[in-house]
Amino acid sequence: MNETTNRRLEGELVERARRVLPGGSFGNFPGDVVIREGRGGRVWDESGKEYVDFLLGSGPMLVGHAHPEVTAAAQARISQGTTYFANNRYGIELAEAIVDAVPCAEQVRFVSTGSEADLYAMRAARAFRKRDKILKFEGGYHGMSDYSLMSLAPKRSGNFPQPVPDSAGIPRSLRDEILVAPFNDLEVVESLVREHRDELAGVIVEPLQRIIPPAAGFLEGLRKITADNGILLIFDEVVTGFRLAYGGAQEYYGVVPDLCTLGKVIGGGFPLAAIAGRADIMAHFDRSTVGDEGFLMQIGTLSGNPVAAAAGLATLEILRRPGAYERLFATGRELMGTLAELLKGNGLAGQVTGEPPLFDVVFSGEPVRDYRGTLRGDAEMLRRFNALLRDCGVLKGESKYYVSLAHTPDDVRLTREAWSSAISLVAP
Ligand SMILES: Cc1ncc(COP(=O)(O)O)c(C=O)c1O
Repeated sequence: MNETTNRRLEGELVERARRVLPGGSFGNFPGDVVIREGRGGRVWDESGKEYVDFLLGSGPMLVGHAHPEVTAAAQARISQGTTYFANNRYGIELAEAIVDAVPCAEQVRFVSTGSEADLYAMRAARAFRKRDKILKFEGGYHGMSDYSLMSLAPKRSGNFPQPVPDSAGIPRSLRDEILVAPFNDLEVVESLVREHRDELAGVIVEPLQRIIPPAAGFLEGLRKITADNGILLIFDEVVTGFRLAYGGAQEYYGVVPDLCTLGKVIGGGFPLAAIAGRADIMAHFDRSTVGDEGFLMQIGTLSGNPVAAAAGLATLEILRRPGAYERLFATGRELMGTLAELLKGNGLAGQVTGEPPLFDVVFSGEPVRDYRGTLRGDAEMLRRFNALLRDCGVLKGESKYYVSLAHTPDDVRLTREAWSSAISLVAP
């Protein structure tokens, strides 16, 4: 088939999607691109167009698409049946690997998505502390539950600590159960915790909030304030787990929470996520330890799925190899440095922010410390920049480049060329 035929066939798929999917998409990414396959650090769409892929399936494909070892591990399991509901060896071994790697993890409970993991982590904090309120940060992403969709991406800023629901259909009554603070502002957190200490069960935070790193002392301060006031600290490590370091953000930044959530990388590209943490808190998932009153019911058809667990174990084995994180960080550092240098060279005000395995640019003259700082960036410029990059064969999410171990010097070179050409078109 030639290129024109392929493009027509992709166009037909886009049309068919519009008929049967609301908004013509799965809700994640614009429906005008239909991906056919991925290998290493590249993906191809149905028209045959090749992209350097920084979307990485929204993060899980840290070792690259269709990694032969991950594929072989999953295929070996598939031929033995794909799900049993009962315990299986691979899920048990993955739980052991998580306990070995992640500083806070004494025990693990598997679920299928990061959204679920965050929902249960907050519920576990409420069950353990026997209090209802959770403090989260404006702009912090903790999945799609009613409790999480509060001040994730408010169009208009509310007054702290009142949350702004991000979605229709969230009960009004839940607004009273969530307090919102600005990321990187310990003073506000401290005064809210002092005021609400008898009602607060926990504080949930993305240690690297989207692409905003924690200011020096921020996570340490959160740890101290929560511990001093008997409140649980939950790190949402769905993105950062096994990405910033083998032990996640808690290893990378050196601050250990009481509970964390994991997803993306641990499922090796299959649906799998987890809540992990202190055994005395995780005990709430076990009726025989905590009794009926304290028991936190949690059941999921695919929890600990053997195919996902085997793919996750194979992924972790690759990540444990000497030099894996050094290579990942070297690629990310080179990309971040290149983008910053190109922006500067072309007189464009832009902050390249994040950590080497995940970053993006905010088109703003000022450093970004919190969600409101990202709003000061030129969103229209970012949208145009991303669209131009896509034309040039670089695929990425709206506001994140995910770097992979599979990205090669050639991928970096192509990305540099795409950035140069996109910058020349958006520069004033
Ligand atoms: C920090 C964070 N937490 C939770 C989630 C939700 O994970 P999932 O999409 O698997 O439900 C995401 C998803 O991107 C995330 O970035």
